[in-house]
Amino acid sequence: MIRTTGLGVEIDGARILSDVTVALDQPRIAVIGANGSGKSTFARTLNGLVPPSEGTVEVQGIDVAREARRARDAVGFLFTNPDAQILMPTPAEDLALSFRAARVPRAQIPDRVSAAFERFGLAGHADQPAYSLSGGQKQLLALAAVLVRAPRVLVADEPTTLLDLGNARRMADLLINGDDAGEQPEQVVVVTHDLELAARCDVALRFADGRLDEIGEPRDVIARYRAEFA
Ligand SMILES: Nc1ncnc2c1ncn2[C@@H]1O[C@H](COP(=O)(O)OP(=O)(O)OP(=O)(O)O)[C@@H](O)[C@H]1O
Ligand SMILES: [Mg+2]
Repeated sequence: MIRTTGLGVEIDGARILSDVTVALDQPRIAVIGANGSGKSTFARTLNGLVPPSEGTVEVQGIDVAREARRARDAVGFLFTNPDAQILMPTPAEDLALSFRAARVPRAQIPDRVSAAFERFGLAGHADQPAYSLSGGQKQLLALAAVLVRAPRVLVADEPTTLLDLGNARRMADLLINGDDAGEQPEQVVVVTHDLELAARCDVALRFADGRLDEIGEPRDVIARYRAEFA
C-alpha cells in the first residue's frame, strides 16, 4: 500500500508538488503527464530521496520521512540514468555487491550472478568494464542490481527511455510480470512517457502542473491525455 496525504514539495522557494492525496493498493502503477509536471518529484518522495515539505508519505506501512532507513530498504529506485546506480568496475562485481547487500551466502553468489546475467539479457558482458556497456545494457544491469535486493516496492523513473525496442519490451515485461526466477516487488510504480507501458498497469496517475490531475483506469486516463494533444 502506498498512501500520501496532503503531500507537497517546495524546493528553494519553488513550488513543485501540491496537495497530493492518494491511496494505491494496485500492484502496477503508472505515472504519466507532461514534462515538468512533477512525476519524478512524486516518485522520489516514495523512498525519501525528496522529503515532503507538507503532508506524509507512507509505503508498506513505513512513514518514509520518519523511518528513512527502512524506507530505503523497502523501496528500490531505478533512475533514468543508470550511471547513477552502477557502483563497481565490472557488471559481475556490481551484481555480486547487490547479492552481498541482500545477504545471499557468499558461496551461492557466483551462480546467482550468472543466472541473473542470463535472465536480464546480459550474458557475455559480465566482466567487461561497466562504463563500456551500452546505455541499454547499463539500464538492465541497474534493474538487475535493484531487484536482487528484493525490494517490496520498486519505483522506476522512465526506465525504458534509453532502450531499443527489444530491450524496452524486456524491461516492460520484467516490470509488469516480473521474472519467474526472482521474488517480485509487491508494487511497481513506473513513471513513463511510454503510453503502451502505462496501459499495461493496473492504475494510472496523471500529473499536471505539480498536482495529481487524474487517477483511474489506464485506458481512460491515457485516452484523455491523448485527446488534449489531438
Ligand atoms: N531542485 C529544484 N529546484 C527548482 N525546481 C525544481 C527542482 N527540482 C525540480 N524542479 C522543477 O519542478 C518541476 C517538476 O519536475 P519533475 O522532475 O518532477 O518533472 P517530471 O514530471 O518528472 O518531468 P519530465 O517528464 O521532464 O521528467 C519542473 O519544472 C522542475 O524544473
Ligand atoms: Mg521526470
